[in-house]
Amino acid sequence: MKYIGLVAVFAATCVAQYGQSLDDLPKIVDNSTSSLPGVEKYVLPPLPYPYNALEPHISEQIMKLHHSAHHQAYVDNLNNALSELRGLEEQGMIEKEKKEGLEETVKFNRGGHINHSLFWKGLVPTGTPDSSLQGDLDKAIKAKWGSEKKFSEAFTKTILQKVKGSGWGWVVCNVGTRDLSFETTRDQDPISLPQLVIFGIDMWEHAYYLQYYNNKKSYLKAIWNVINWKEANERYSACLKHVDT
Ligand SMILES: [Fe+2]
Repeated sequence: MKYIGLVAVFAATCVAQYGQSLDDLPKIVDNSTSSLPGVEKYVLPPLPYPYNALEPHISEQIMKLHHSAHHQAYVDNLNNALSELRGLEEQGMIEKEKKEGLEETVKFNRGGHINHSLFWKGLVPTGTPDSSLQGDLDKAIKAKWGSEKKFSEAFTKTILQKVKGSGWGWVVCNVGTRDLSFETTRDQDPISLPQLVIFGIDMWEHAYYLQYYNNKKSYLKAIWNVINWKEANERYSACLKHVDT
């Protein structure tokens, strides 16, 4: 079927990565609302902690809106665009301009779904064992930047310099060189191979404005308290063990 081919193409562009592919994200078979029964739809992954768990650093209000409204919208828009593409292709009546528009919608919302799914798992309540820099990642960061403080300062500086509008700041590991570095992406563009995400920080205003207004620096200082270093270290381990297939 053309639709299956379409999904495969978009999945292939994400390639098999550590949590960076649509293939890693949950789907359900939705027979109730789908125009074609049996078609799978992406679903909003539950937060691995309550909405108020990251307070006082990230407010409950922000987390609730960000997850249940913004992320949900990326999921809904992705499903709707894929469904419309499928329907038009099966009818054999899709025009080039229409197709390109829907593919752009899929690309944007696919990125939003992937990026936010990585983001939630990359955070954890402060004061828990997972909220301390640890393992091989601890050693690698201190070897390259000297200390966690210098690393966080350098990352903050990169984000403030390079993310001018809506976008993301990332700590990534190159699977070829195993080297750690900083990346930024615009809008909802995701990170792709040869880079793996260690953790990312959402720099869209919806991630901080209700609590920090236009003070991006305060937001970046606060979110440092709720980075899930256990998850980040596991992603780094996956990068060190990555073998091209
Ligand atoms: Fe966001």
